[in-house]
Amino acid sequence: MQFQLTEEHLMIQKAARDFAQNECLPGVIERDEHQKFPREQILKLAELGFMGMMVSPDYGGAGMDTISYVLAMEEISKVDASVSVSMSVNNSLVCWGLEKFGSEDQKQKYLVPLAQGRKNGELHIGAFLLSEPEAGSDATSQHTTAEDKGDYYLLNGTKNWITNGSSASIYLVMAQSDVSKGSKGINVFIVEKNWPGVAVGAKENKLGIRGSDTHSISFSDVKVPKENRIGGDGFGFTFAMKTLAGGRIGIASQALGIASGAYELALKYSKERKAFGKEIMHHQAIQFKLADMATKVECARLLCLKAAWEKDQHLDYTLSSSMAKVFSSEAAMWITVEAVQVHGGYGYVKEYHVERLMRDAKITQIYEGTSEVQRIVISRSILK
Ligand code: CAA
Repeated sequence: MQFQLTEEHLMIQKAARDFAQNECLPGVIERDEHQKFPREQILKLAELGFMGMMVSPDYGGAGMDTISYVLAMEEISKVDASVSVSMSVNNSLVCWGLEKFGSEDQKQKYLVPLAQGRKNGELHIGAFLLSEPEAGSDATSQHTTAEDKGDYYLLNGTKNWITNGSSASIYLVMAQSDVSKGSKGINVFIVEKNWPGVAVGAKENKLGIRGSDTHSISFSDVKVPKENRIGGDGFGFTFAMKTLAGGRIGIASQALGIASGAYELALKYSKERKAFGKEIMHHQAIQFKLADMATKVECARLLCLKAAWEKDQHLDYTLSSSMAKVFSSEAAMWITVEAVQVHGGYGYVKEYHVERLMRDAKITQIYEGTSEVQRIVISRSILK
């Protein structure tokens, strides 16, 4: 067993850390306050090759492994989780799904620019459209329909909570084509945002990850050519589940970054702030909090890296990615609350960053499968 990162991993980690400090930290408070999408930051991330990190260079990607992805996600999420969620969705849910299951034509046409994160110098990213107003955790209950019309499908319905909703150019859309077949009647399609009948709804006003643009998207008689269906007829739900297993490594790493970012800020503050005649780090009440934070961060990191390693080894990582996600997201929530407590009154104001991390942490227990869904996946796996 080998617990050391390679030279290459350390270089990628440092590049991500420098990027977060130099490009994401300036303006992060204002972007959060005004719900400003971090377009410039994501464009620069694309220049570094981080929007298609794991895609093969044959398809415009950087050809890095999943361990590198976890390291980069952690560093960027320490500073701005609104940047890292776009990165995660584009890498794990969009590019990975296209590279793994798309046809050669689909990869050439759609994956190559998405992996580069740019097209004609403009931001070019994707979104994953599974959730609906009445289908969140219960993802098989798709109400969006894709009626087979011969050489095209007719798409109708509404999707909710879509990350990159307005900034994405390409949508991967799950829809029901044959309700009598249940989950086996669901298909997945590549849909271009500018096609007739596609409408982007209002931006959600969220508690956290406020820079990220979350929208509902509706489809009204959208004609989707048959060649834009990914995989065979009825493959959509399997596509969603397999893609989400990798996506959960991304969100687990985002939660890890939020947690370790809050822990590092609390540690730093405890060395500076004095109370009762000494730095607060000398008080056991603070020491115990820091000890628990450090332990939870380490556990979360190990779970994320284990899931990433299994994916890189082509092992089944469904169980480990759900374990990583449920643990890391719950650790992030706990650690960020404690980090605010260590900061006292200063933790409650924006300048010290920990209140934002606390608000950002909450979503990691909800999206890409709630903590309850992860426990369903874990218990099914250990009980089968
Ligand atoms: N791989 C392959 N196939 C799978 C699978 C997997 N990991 N998981 C399930 N399936 C198959 C099952 O084998 C089953 O097939 P059979 O009928 O042949 O047995 C079929 O899919 C249906 O599965 P279930 O019966 O297990 O379905 P269920 O209704 O009990 O639900 C669930 C299972 C785990 C709760 C699932 O619905 C789920 O993961 N829900 C959460 C959805 C989710 O994560 N949404 C996130 C939205 S995306 C997002 O948040 C992105 C973003 O913007 C940040």
